[in-house]
Amino acid sequence: MEKEIFPLTHRRLRSGRLIRELVNPLRISHKSFIQPLFVEQGLPQPREITGMNGIVVETTHTILENIEHNLKQGINKFLLFPVPSKKSRHSFDFSFAADLVFSLKQKYKNEIWLATDVCLCSYTESGHCGILNLTGDAVLNQDSVEELSRYALQLAQAGADCVAPSDMMDGRVRAIRNRLNQNALEATTIMSYSAKFSSQWYGPFRDACHSTPNSIVLKDRKSYQLSAIGSSDAISCAKRDEEEGADILMVKPASNNTDIIQSIKQISNKPLAVYHVSGEYAAIELMAGQGLVDRAKAHLELWSALDRSGADIIISYAATQSKTWIENFEY
Ligand code: PBG
Ligand code: ZN
Repeated sequence: MEKEIFPLTHRRLRSGRLIRELVNPLRISHKSFIQPLFVEQGLPQPREITGMNGIVVETTHTILENIEHNLKQGINKFLLFPVPSKKSRHSFDFSFAADLVFSLKQKYKNEIWLATDVCLCSYTESGHCGILNLTGDAVLNQDSVEELSRYALQLAQAGADCVAPSDMMDGRVRAIRNRLNQNALEATTIMSYSAKFSSQWYGPFRDACHSTPNSIVLKDRKSYQLSAIGSSDAISCAKRDEEEGADILMVKPASNNTDIIQSIKQISNKPLAVYHVSGEYAAIELMAGQGLVDRAKAHLELWSALDRSGADIIISYAATQSKTWIENFEY
């Protein structure tokens, strides 16, 4: 019997380093990356975050070294999470965050692009993203939106380039856009967490920001964040935020939701950011720490998948290393 021949069909294009580079170059650029930063009021020393290799909650002093380090690595876009020391029920004091933004923008001017998260969960006693009613079993939409837009205005007045509402109240993008415009802050950008799922993957972040819901009657964020297992409203939330004036839309967590990323990209012309969140970062880092994956390659693989899905902007805790890793990628 004659031997059957199996000639190469696809392997030719995988046969050497340069042909692999030619047909499948890395298409991501460090220029599209945003590095999250945590700063806590009154913190004497930087505080490590469980599982978050290399990421700490900074003090108002150490944050400067962190930014300088990023600038040296070619990273100049940041998403700031200010953590105030005082928690209350309503009438929050936003001055720590506003002062921090002011001092960072005074120092670095347009050398950095500074977005600031806008949410109440680091401010509320309950750890919820909005203001609770008297019985503590519901988050009040109207009261929360008013407070959020007041916060966004203070951040914008302090010089934030962008405000990023992550609270998931209805109408907050419109409220913020109106308030900024009324105060001659038309140029301040809004990056809206438009499809933010009520996800398990925010665990390490909540440790960092003291923002775990601790109310016994309202234990989770399901009444305002999108269902983690369904996605029926993800597209209409993105449309709604675009109509209300969002300049940049966002999907988070990232890796579970590449279908949503793809669909939103199809229906909107706005730049789309995806947030590879704390738990997703920690999952890679914890495995890398055990020698189970190569850290750089695992992040690059994931980032490329997000890029293929339609992400224009990637928010990652490893953004700092993105330029180095991209440049040194081995095909
Ligand atoms: C707070 C907020 C969260 C994240 C960003 N803003 C957590 C939450 O909703 O509980 C998650 C970021 C991360 O996990 O990296 N509104
Ligand atoms: Zn929140």
